[in-house]
Amino acid sequence: MHISRVGISKLCFLLSLAFCAFLLLLIPTLQPQQRHSELPQPRPNTRTTGGRTGTASRHSSHTVAIPLQQPATRDSSAAPRGRTGEPKKPDTSAVRKAQSTSKRNNPPNWSSDRYPTGPIRPHPGEKLELKDIFIAVKTTRKYHKSRLELLFQTWVSQAKKQTFIFTDGEDKELRSRAGDNVINTNCSAAHTRQALCCKMSVEYDKFIESQRKWFCHVDDDNYVILPSLLLLLSSYSHTQDVYLGRPSLDHPIEAAERVKSDGSTSVKFWFATGGAGFCISRGLALKMSPWASLGNFISTAEKIRLPDDCTIGYIIEALLEVPMTHTRLFHSHLENLQRLPSETVLRQVTLSYGGYENRRNVVSIGGAFSLTEDPSRFKTVHCLLYPETNWCPSKKHH
Ligand SMILES: *[C@@H]1O[C@H](CO)[C@@H](O)[C@H](O)[C@H]1NC(C)=O
Ligand SMILES: *[C@@H]1O[C@H](CO)[C@@H](O)[C@H](O)[C@H]1NC(C)=O
Repeated sequence: MHISRVGISKLCFLLSLAFCAFLLLLIPTLQPQQRHSELPQPRPNTRTTGGRTGTASRHSSHTVAIPLQQPATRDSSAAPRGRTGEPKKPDTSAVRKAQSTSKRNNPPNWSSDRYPTGPIRPHPGEKLELKDIFIAVKTTRKYHKSRLELLFQTWVSQAKKQTFIFTDGEDKELRSRAGDNVINTNCSAAHTRQALCCKMSVEYDKFIESQRKWFCHVDDDNYVILPSLLLLLSSYSHTQDVYLGRPSLDHPIEAAERVKSDGSTSVKFWFATGGAGFCISRGLALKMSPWASLGNFISTAEKIRLPDDCTIGYIIEALLEVPMTHTRLFHSHLENLQRLPSETVLRQVTLSYGGYENRRNVVSIGGAFSLTEDPSRFKTVHCLLYPETNWCPSKKHH
């Protein structure tokens, strides 16, 4: 008995050694898989929904059964701050998905315009200057101090003439600061679909009036990285039909068609989430006019009963049949911003930050200011982009 127990122990010991050796041999083969974890956004199990992401889902949307799903208004720019559940993020998980699905049918075409990623590929686009862009910032009276102040201090200071503030209440201080670039929409300050659509409608009309080449809409919690925006837009032509933005869902939404027909049929379309910002070329904006100009935007939104950003998507994709160009360069507070690799932060087009209930949701970037001094990270980003700014601590002492 005693001897055999020793024998079993020895056997176990030898087996353990053999197992360890086996594991050691496996390490090199495991390494390529570890790299996956560096990729943004592990993807939740969405294959079962039947929805496909990106181009694939677009082209297969007629054949693949997509459950009828309307976005909650919370998924749009109308979202209250500090929401816990995040929407699915098709675009940030896209690389991973492309790898995992490369053998399936219809892999997304990553070289197509639909997926601009980092530095934009050279394109016989046009020479574009900041003055060609109309940047609409949507805000509300109660955020003039807490949110707009930071924007004026940072990126808006670099694009004073291009940035137009759309708000809902007179504010002498704001008026003296930004003059005619503040537009009182006279819309309600309520966070309702009607009030938000009312503001979008005024933004659209002011853009058309401005004669500029590009319309970009952002929220009052977005930082716009102007050099990246210029680079992105200059790879397209403003006379073409271009609708650039970030989808907030990983599948197109479906809505009853109440504009072209009586509502008995439904349409599927993508829309760019307003909270991350989006851009529309002048060529396309002009075509939107029958459904968007002079108050028509409000009646279109009322017909389909969807929020402002969804209505934009509806007009462009469903009515004009122009596909949205999906981009991963725009960011809203609904994403996990910490997951954005630090070294890519300055190459993005828009950034955002979590609100009061989600203070930690900010881009991870180090620099001049601590998290306490600069909770949104916007000042830090700004000083990295424009180190000459007088309030940025200079590295060199002259
Ligand atoms: C991918 O897109 C590029 C640019 O639009 C195009 O030239 C190319 O033919 C496309 N590839 C496939 C496989 O569709
Ligand atoms: C809002 O009302 C004021 C005062 O009546 C008016 O001057 C202004 O043009 C209105 N704004 C818009 C966007 O219509």
